[in-house]
Amino acid sequence: MGSVEFEVRTAAGMRATGERLATVLEPGDLVLLTGDLGAGKTTLTQGIGVGLGVRGAVTSPTFVIAREHPSSAGGPGLVHVDAYRLGSLVEVDDLDLDTSLADSVTVVEWGTGLVEDLAGSRLEIRLIRPRGEDQGRADPSGGSLDASLDGDEVRRVRLTAVGPRWEGTDLSRVGPGPSPTRPDPRPAGNPEGN
Ligand SMILES: Nc1ncnc2c1ncn2[C@@H]1O[C@H](COP(=O)(O)OP(=O)(O)OP(=O)(O)O)[C@@H](O)[C@H]1O
Ligand SMILES: [Mg+2]
Repeated sequence: MGSVEFEVRTAAGMRATGERLATVLEPGDLVLLTGDLGAGKTTLTQGIGVGLGVRGAVTSPTFVIAREHPSSAGGPGLVHVDAYRLGSLVEVDDLDLDTSLADSVTVVEWGTGLVEDLAGSRLEIRLIRPRGEDQGRADPSGGSLDASLDGDEVRRVRLTAVGPRWEGTDLSRVGPGPSPTRPDPRPAGNPEGN
């Protein structure tokens, strides 16, 4: 199964990653998000919600284990599950959903080892905070080379596709792509074009 890894330097970039991911997602898909507290799992899910065009703000559910976001765009809705407080296998019935998972995109935070059986295939996404010197917090030259404005920090994102659903899906579309090296097409010195 395919695996793709790339770097995301800002929270906004993580949301944009979720939006790109939404373009490859289909009803019935299961997405498992793993990574430390604050790694960006909910931030990524917010972008997925935007990309799918669903209603309601995607937030960290504190008391709710699963939250449903119906589509406003005629596509699949989003079922956002936070399994952090769950200690055992999540059964579909336990989620007490109005929509069926077959009609929705299901995104589960902290679901590894708990929800794999919800679907025959799954997309595993691991968000990694580089530690120590990689974080750029204490740049010895005194500058701030990292994207540390507004608390943005680098994350590594690793996508791993498991199961037949993902055969033929180009996951590299989810990454940021090659850096934009195209020359600016606008005439120099006249940015407004007038
Ligand atoms: N590159 C980045 N990608 C994602 N989030 C980032 C990045 N840089 C900084 N952040 C910040 O990190 C925080 C991530 O919080 P978020 O709630 O998405 O994490 P989480 O993995 O869902 O945590 P939890 O395990 O508590 O559910 C946000 O405050 C976000 O602004
Ligand atoms: Mg979260």
